[in-house]
Amino acid sequence: MFSDLGECLISAEQIQDKVRQMGAVISRDYQGKDLVVVGILKGSVLFLADLIRYITVPLSIDFVAVSSYGASTTSSGVVRILKDLEESIEGKHVLIVEDIIDTGLTLKYLLENLWARNPADVKVCVLLDKPERRKVDVKIHYQGFSIPDKFVVGYGLDYNEHYRNLPGVWTLKPEIYSK
Ligand code: IMP
Ligand code: MG
Repeated sequence: MFSDLGECLISAEQIQDKVRQMGAVISRDYQGKDLVVVGILKGSVLFLADLIRYITVPLSIDFVAVSSYGASTTSSGVVRILKDLEESIEGKHVLIVEDIIDTGLTLKYLLENLWARNPADVKVCVLLDKPERRKVDVKIHYQGFSIPDKFVVGYGLDYNEHYRNLPGVWTLKPEIYSK
């Protein structure tokens, strides 16, 4: 498995430092607000699990699953909800937690979809941002790292469902995904 990895782009320690800082800022911003942290399955699972341990205000968590790239590494532009939230977000302060923003299509769709349910607020928190790849404008309120246009795996991010369990973020050798 590890022979397919390129370089370690962000170490486990760097991620934990950043997530701790993000948790502190979010805790300050959401004082006294009814916070619902919405994770996008499956990529956000590790990030969300770590992030909420650094958030010191009361919160609930919920998840959505959206159609993604499948086995391919290029966006189809078509987004579909595969699993919806379990609780109503009406009047709530929603924080969407996502592993990475690439073209922005997933988050743009989800933002419009969630805003239509009359929440008090919807904000976006992403660990990784690939700004060079953006196709649509999406406001990111909390961002961990900006990374170059390379396909990455680890810390929740997969290639064909593999590598999600790596504690750091790694590039994949291009010959792996251009096959
Ligand atoms: P977007 O709709 O193009 O912004 O795509 C976001 C989704 O694409 C993320 O939730 C990831 O699941 C996936 N994705 C984008 N870039 C990568 C990558 O480098 N590695 C793994 N998954 C990625
Ligand atoms: Mg994803």
